[in-house]
Amino acid sequence: MSELVARILVVDDDKAVRAALRVNLRKAGHEVQLAQSVDEALRMISERPVDLVLTDVAMPGRTGLELLAELRRRWPTVRVVVMTGYGSVEDAVGAMKSGADDYIIKPVSRNELLVIVDKALAEKALLAELVQLRQQVQDQYGYKEIIGCTAEMVEVYELIETVADTSALVLLQGPTGTGKELISSAIHYRSDRRGAAFVRVNCAALPEGLLESELFGHEKGAFTGAVRQHRGKFEQADGGTLMLDEIGEITATTQVKLLRVLESGEFTRVGGSEPIKVDTRVIAATNRDLLSEVREGRFREDLYYRLNVFNIQVPPLKDRRDDVPLLVDHFVKRFAERHGRSPELSVPAATMQRLLNYHWPGNVRELQHVVERAVILSKGAELTGVKLPEAPQGRPPGAEVLPDGMTLQAALLEYERRVLIEALKAADGVQAQAARDLGISRSNLNYRINRLRIQIKDIVYE
Ligand SMILES: Nc1ncnc2c1ncn2[C@@H]1O[C@H](COP(=O)(O)OP(=O)(O)OP(=O)(O)O)[C@@H](O)[C@H]1O
Ligand SMILES: [Mg+2]
Repeated sequence: MSELVARILVVDDDKAVRAALRVNLRKAGHEVQLAQSVDEALRMISERPVDLVLTDVAMPGRTGLELLAELRRRWPTVRVVVMTGYGSVEDAVGAMKSGADDYIIKPVSRNELLVIVDKALAEKALLAELVQLRQQVQDQYGYKEIIGCTAEMVEVYELIETVADTSALVLLQGPTGTGKELISSAIHYRSDRRGAAFVRVNCAALPEGLLESELFGHEKGAFTGAVRQHRGKFEQADGGTLMLDEIGEITATTQVKLLRVLESGEFTRVGGSEPIKVDTRVIAATNRDLLSEVREGRFREDLYYRLNVFNIQVPPLKDRRDDVPLLVDHFVKRFAERHGRSPELSVPAATMQRLLNYHWPGNVRELQHVVERAVILSKGAELTGVKLPEAPQGRPPGAEVLPDGMTLQAALLEYERRVLIEALKAADGVQAQAARDLGISRSNLNYRINRLRIQIKDIVYE
């Protein structure tokens, strides 16, 4: 007997098929209803909701694809498996594109039928579980702004909890757009420093000299233009938290100065001689792989170890795809309100499926932009206008115009990713070979693989 027992509606104009399915599904413990047309099916569902619909495609009157569309619109959580004859496999493809959960090519063996049904039901159970789990996670940790309830994110929450109340240095690493800023402020506001300031410095935004005066301050007359004394961010964050964002970008000279400050807890303002002591907690963040930077000689090893007291790795979105529906819902609500769209704005299942399948090189930031744009375009009750960049295939995008909403950086990263994956595929995963083919060093390839978080499964399945 199957583990998940469900209410299933079978829709087929062929009486023999209906009967056979009923016998097999009942044997597995399911409750089965039969309909011979789309209209009859819709009537039955209106009267009593079902968990799963198994529908034929070609039937007199409305087709199974029309039923699918109607179900998606009115009962988005109902699972739908489409059945087609051997000769019309393209219907199955069409159905999957329109948001069917699975398809069956008739005739189907009993085992195959039960496997497909179980899988569709398990996904439904998972969805319900996810919503529940999310509630639990939010209740337990009280995170309002950080969305995510996958095991990967729960681990991040636990690390935040563990470290918040200490004054330990934190090193946050993760690809672009994964929420490092959100996490930094979560750490601050959960620590007993929350009464003092949370100050962020983007280390990539300023040239060396200015960055130093920004961090440590300067005395009046320290350099041309220093018309008055200036307190640096380390002082402004005294008693609180200083987030050194994009730490991977600081120059060698600044690295030395920073190391000294972290070791002694003291510094002098630029142009000053008085040592200043502060109680500032530092959170450093970067979207680079700092250890590779150390290996490549771009980042001081001693500073790396000094910063790396407590490491939090934020996973890319494609490694926690179950968070995608939550994030989509969250941003749909937020932007519907902000842009005056329907508060009931719903996401068609087929659209959600596309969002789930996409690999999100720009992570949550990218998802947020895609959803915001779509919400603005959605004048009705359904989310429309979701536009995802096509993955550049095999050859360089050349001088092509970027797909709408995609930044140059995201396009380049995506392109680089494809090139690397193709090269690794061609070399059967042998990195040394792939590096030779690409004309780069092995360590350079390794650095890029780490930076783009390319995994074996990307090479095998993509
Ligand atoms: N888990 C999340 N839940 C809700 N919003 C998120 C989440 N992660 C990121 N965001 C949102 O995505 C955007 C990018 O996040 P953030 O600026 O924190 O990224 P980052 O990791 O600092 O990226 P970068 O390395 O490019 O600076 C922000 O608007 C943030 O609010
Ligand atoms: Mg950031």
